[in-house]
Amino acid sequence: MKKTIAVLAGDGIGPEITDGAIAVLNAVAQKFGHEFTFKHYPIGGCAIDCCGVPLPPETVEGCLAADSVLLGAVGGYKWDGMAGDARPEAGLLGIRKAMRLYSNIRPARLFKQLADASPLKESLVRDGIEIIVVRELTGGIYFGERGSYDDNENGATAWDTEKYSVREIERITEIACRLAANRSKKIVSVDKANVLESSRLWRKTVHAYAKRHYPEIVVEDMLVDNCAMQIVKNPAQFDMLLTSNMFGDILSDEAAQVTGSIGMLASSSLGEGTRGLYEPIHGSAPDIAGRDLANPIATVLSCAMMLRDSFGLNGESAAVETAVGRVLEEGYRTADIYAEGMKKVGCREMARLIAERV
Ligand code: IPM
Ligand code: MG
Repeated sequence: MKKTIAVLAGDGIGPEITDGAIAVLNAVAQKFGHEFTFKHYPIGGCAIDCCGVPLPPETVEGCLAADSVLLGAVGGYKWDGMAGDARPEAGLLGIRKAMRLYSNIRPARLFKQLADASPLKESLVRDGIEIIVVRELTGGIYFGERGSYDDNENGATAWDTEKYSVREIERITEIACRLAANRSKKIVSVDKANVLESSRLWRKTVHAYAKRHYPEIVVEDMLVDNCAMQIVKNPAQFDMLLTSNMFGDILSDEAAQVTGSIGMLASSSLGEGTRGLYEPIHGSAPDIAGRDLANPIATVLSCAMMLRDSFGLNGESAAVETAVGRVLEEGYRTADIYAEGMKKVGCREMARLIAERV
């Protein structure tokens, strides 16, 4: 199979982790006889530096012309003072929007080899954790109207709006239902319906849609504040969370940490077709950038999602996941998941070990 993959390495640790992931994809290509061509484009802070904008037009064109997109991370101290739509993060939001990637899947899984790395006590994680966070990605407060003005009485004032339409809610509900149908058939839909009008529409629409199209699926509601608490109180109760853009952003970080390290959590973003964007859920970690300390596993596992969800290469995807499991089994750890007695390795070596086991 021949595939072109656009690589948006971005900022901070982005280049290291995407290099690591490419090494693993090259091993997959070699082992299974595929041809992957990687085309690099700037995004985020590095795009601001080289081209003056966080999302240059050639990056968008390159992504739309590719079979799939691999992204590292964006952002860093250097660009922190910039205005909203000039910031590196605007590049990431822009590419999600340009590719119409409304569905973001973030599986938070506790590798049994990493039970020690979870901050929760053993009795809570003993039976394993796997929470699939289904996050709406191109709507809500991230893309709603916003503004700021000077209010003479109160000083500068700023506002953002959370807005959802039935169509937006239905299509992400469809994605969650489709996934849940092959899993526990249980979805917890997370909102703040006791306060927000947009959440009340969310709740009503999710139930109506699921009942009409997937009567076998059980949908339960949970308020977001309670959900944040339940994730640390009893994470094993969840199989799938379905939620809005901002709640999904927050809860996926929490779910990731519960499973040991945010450095382990992959994600896929898809729209109507098979061309997706695959990225670790963690950020650019400027404090450790360029020091070969980052954990490439989240990015490598994102590639496993790409192989399966964009290219239909299930065996190849499983080979990558198995290789990750084996490396952990053999005791190799990057600094973020290191525990005494384990073998500490850097980003490059971790990726090499995984590639070797593929
Ligand atoms: C994520 C990140 C992004 C988001 C930022 C970098 C814009 O936190 O992918 O979770 O909020 O979506
Ligand atoms: Mg986030």
